[in-house]
Order: sequence, then structure tokens, then C-alpha cells
Amino acid sequence: MKPVVFLNFKSYPQAAGKEGLELAQTALDVAEEHDVELYIAPQLVDTSMFCYSGIPVFAQHCDPVIGNGGTGKISMETLTKLHVKGLLINHSEYPQGVEEILFLVSEARRRGLKSCVCIPDEKLLEALRNSAPDFLAVEPPELIGGNISVSSAKPELLSSVFGFVAVNMRSTRGICGAGIKSAEDVRKAKALGAAGVLVASGYVLADNPRRALEDLVSGFG
Ligand code: G3P
Repeated sequence: MKPVVFLNFKSYPQAAGKEGLELAQTALDVAEEHDVELYIAPQLVDTSMFCYSGIPVFAQHCDPVIGNGGTGKISMETLTKLHVKGLLINHSEYPQGVEEILFLVSEARRRGLKSCVCIPDEKLLEALRNSAPDFLAVEPPELIGGNISVSSAKPELLSSVFGFVAVNMRSTRGICGAGIKSAEDVRKAKALGAAGVLVASGYVLADNPRRALEDLVSGFG
């Protein structure tokens, strides 16, 4: 199976609108050259534009909206209509409750969408054991946006979560994010059992995003 990379554009103005589309296209070129499975999580306001441009999109967030009364919410029905590939769920910058997470994972599956549940630590593992998201992403919030990667700072956490996933969540791929900025960070993550990485600042804020991504994905080799 190809290694997977998620690029989260968060709310970075550098990755909004047309500039965001260009960043996404550059990333797709790199992913194709290096045989990597790539998903882009554009800013929510850009979701439809990215989908219509043929970018493989994971929505940064989804609300459990059913029926009327959804002002300001992101409904799965709409995301399905836009043909997103999947959903990021419970990102630490947009946390969600356990019931909501479980509902979103199973509803996404029912609709043919993938899901990626983010967890800051091991606390949610038992609750997620039978939920089978496509991806489980370990992201300690204190390392997000920094220069020390999760794979350098928390190797025990990663091997413990990936071990749990391998035994108890066999259809789920364990990945990690936070501070991933170099090939070495990716190499360490892979050695600890990661099937891929989630990256934001290491790509969006890089002086040369293409070179930064090429360096990152070389860590899977
Ligand atoms: O969703 C990925 C993100 O939270 C990691 O951010 O900037 O540490 O790569 P960053």
C-alpha cells in the first residue's frame, strides 16, 4: 500500500483560494512522482472549489447536521454532494465529543466517504476500537506548528497507538502529525509503524513548498 500524506491548509491565508489551489496542484505533482497517496484538507470555505478542480479533498471538519437549522454548519450531505473523498474528524483545533465522532465515522462509511479521526493521546482508543475509521491520526496538540516532530518527541506514544491499531483496528491505518518537517521525521514515524503523516506548516509555510514536500516524502523510501 502507498504511504499516505494529508496536507492540512488550516486557515493559513497563504493557502486560501487561488494560492491554495496552486499549492494543492504542486503537491499532487509531487505525490504522483513519488507514488504517494495524497489528500488535501483545504479551508472549509474553499472546499467546493477544490472539489470542482479535481483535488482529492478531505473536509477539515463536519458537523452532525440533520435536517433544518444548520446555519454555519458543515453537513455531510453537502460534503457528499461535493464529492469530497473523506472527513477529518476531531482535529485538536476543532474537538468533537465521542458520540459525535462515532456517528460521523459510521455515517461517512454509509455514504462511501473515508474518515480520519485525530486523537491527541491514547485516551480515546478504547472508545474507537470498534469504529473502524480509515485513518487514525495521532497529533499531540502541544507539538502542532512547532519544529520538534511527534516522531522525535513521542516515540512511545506512537508505537503504543500503532500497536493497538494493528491488533484491534485492523482495517484502520495509523498515521501521525505535529511538527513533521523533514525526511528524518517521516523516517522515524515510518519506523514506529506509521502508514503516513499529516502536515500543515511544514508545507504551507515552507520557503519552497515543492522542495519541502519532496524532502518529506523521501523519508518513506
Ligand atoms: O493536521 C495537521 C496539523 O495539525 C499538523 O500541523 O503545522 O505541526 O504540521 P503542523
